[in-house]
Amino acid sequence: MKTDPPALRVRRARRQDWPAARSLLAEVDDLHARIAPDYFRPAARVESEWHRLLDDATGAIFVAEVMPSDRAVGIVVARIYDTPDNPTMVRRRRGHVETLVVAAEQRRRGIGRQLMGESVAWARAQGAVEVVLTTWAGNREADAFYEKLGYRILSRVLHADI
Ligand SMILES: CC(C)(COP(=O)(O)OP(=O)(O)OC[C@H]1O[C@@H](n2cnc3c(N)ncnc32)[C@H](O)[C@@H]1OP(=O)(O)O)[C@@H](O)C(=O)NCCC(=O)NCCS
Repeated sequence: MKTDPPALRVRRARRQDWPAARSLLAEVDDLHARIAPDYFRPAARVESEWHRLLDDATGAIFVAEVMPSDRAVGIVVARIYDTPDNPTMVRRRRGHVETLVVAAEQRRRGIGRQLMGESVAWARAQGAVEVVLTTWAGNREADAFYEKLGYRILSRVLHADI
């Protein structure tokens, strides 16, 4: 059921966001372990990894807070990269959204859209001309969300068990 849009604040993540980030990342890790168990297993993330992500100069992490709380209820991890210097490839700077998750009880309130907006603006400011990301087969929520935001399939990864 829809509720009123929350008073949201999106800001750069900081070290103190670790407890909230840990539980948000666990939500998406558990989801991936459910829908792609051959690839993912639920495992506790560690704080040093959080610090490494925050310190990566090619990346940006944004969190969303529902005012007046300052606890993050959504997070997006984005990175910039250039396509390889290869004569058969068009040189292109891309933003890559590595992770996006909104706390289950806060979904469908516009938080994911706002986090994506912030990471796209950041990528554009770094010179990126597009944003790419991966969704796993079976993640219908994510498919519906990204389609609504205008994202389209760029390539498909096929696999067969052998
Ligand atoms: C995907 C996800 C980030 C969306 O976050 P959200 O805050 O709920 O998204 P928004 O409220 O901004 O949704 C924007 C629009 O996307 C569409 N949408 C979002 N979730 C949807 C769903 N479950 N079913 C159908 N449409 C959906 C709607 O059109 C929505 O607008 P509306 O509510 O006005 O109709 C959230 O569902 C999530 O965290 N999922 C688990 C983690 C995940 O799959 N992450 C992405 C892959 S790594």
